[in-house]
Amino acid sequence: MKFEITPGVNWVGKIDWELRKFHGEEYSTHRGSSYNAYLVRDEKTALIDTVWSPFAKEFVDNLAREIDLNKIDYVIANHAEMDHSGALPLLMHRIPDKPVYCTANGLKSLKGHYHKDWNFQVVKTGDKLSLGKKELIFVEAMMLHWPDSMMEYLTGDAILFSNDAFGQHIASEHMFNDLVDPSELFEEATKYYANILTPFSPLVTKKINEVVGLNLPVKFICPSHGVIWRDNPLQIAQKYLQWAADYQENQISIIYDTMWDGTRRLAEQIAHGIKQADDKVTVKLFNISRRDINDVVTEVFKSKAILLGSPTINKGILNAMSALIEMITGLKFKNKKAAAFGCYGWSGESVKILNDHLSKAGFEMIGDGFKAMWQPGDEALAQALAFGKDFAGKV
Ligand code: FEO
Repeated sequence: MKFEITPGVNWVGKIDWELRKFHGEEYSTHRGSSYNAYLVRDEKTALIDTVWSPFAKEFVDNLAREIDLNKIDYVIANHAEMDHSGALPLLMHRIPDKPVYCTANGLKSLKGHYHKDWNFQVVKTGDKLSLGKKELIFVEAMMLHWPDSMMEYLTGDAILFSNDAFGQHIASEHMFNDLVDPSELFEEATKYYANILTPFSPLVTKKINEVVGLNLPVKFICPSHGVIWRDNPLQIAQKYLQWAADYQENQISIIYDTMWDGTRRLAEQIAHGIKQADDKVTVKLFNISRRDINDVVTEVFKSKAILLGSPTINKGILNAMSALIEMITGLKFKNKKAAAFGCYGWSGESVKILNDHLSKAGFEMIGDGFKAMWQPGDEALAQALAFGKDFAGKV
């Protein structure tokens, strides 16, 4: 598959319909993904990014059908992560002397990954590459989302090639934002931001304001995953500014794991208590061992407050909850409140452990949490209800 974005600019990437896990097992991709590469033809021709290594041969073969590879003048490597640079070794084997444009950090990471001495050309923000009538203007995008990340703006066609920023993990035969279901598009764009870009929110704000401040027209934003933004393309930049501003909705998420249903029953009572105190707030319950962890992280991103629940096991917490805590600690959420709860039979450490983790992860703790011994009876369930009411009042 290939298609034209505008005369002289073609998509030459790969749609990966089968992908269900990305970054190893770290990120669930329920709707597949795409690895977007772009061919820009003027008096000179530039290839922007490649695809993931399992598709390297298919990519290079397709590219060779699209253009004599020797007619590619410039190769742009916006980011060394394998999903975009994976076909570079095979491509550069065919055109070994062509220049590869990247950032100074890109030079380090590309050499680190592939151990090749290609004809690297290091660029920085503001550097320009003339293609003839049009030119590419490079913009370093450090930590969006790697230290080596880079974007470029194509004059004339007013295209921002944004690499990972503004992407979504979607496989679709309709590769423009106005041709896909907007609810699916924004669900995936939100999940992508929540799970990948949250820790870098201050840099997101700074970079978007820097690029928007240039007052350049933008007709297309072409990310390296998912659909191209051509209908009101800056809408996704506006969304990023909202998401980067310690985003929250009027939502409380109760996330728990349970061994014999005691902690689940506490979770449901706490939810009733919250709704009794505040019937406007959205309350969602997630059994973390039965839900997709990246989808739950996205719900944490949308929440103004969360409650984490686990029974005590071996003086600790259940392992699905440990994985969630590891993830939300790394993502550095801000402006969110939290509390913990759980059942126990003997020693009862889980609530304190959850409190400590949440506090270290940057959540503002509301109280010391709630724990109940053995299976919760009527008294413990009434206390859980009151705990939920109290929590709602404090958030
Ligand atoms: Fe950071 Fe799409 O790779």
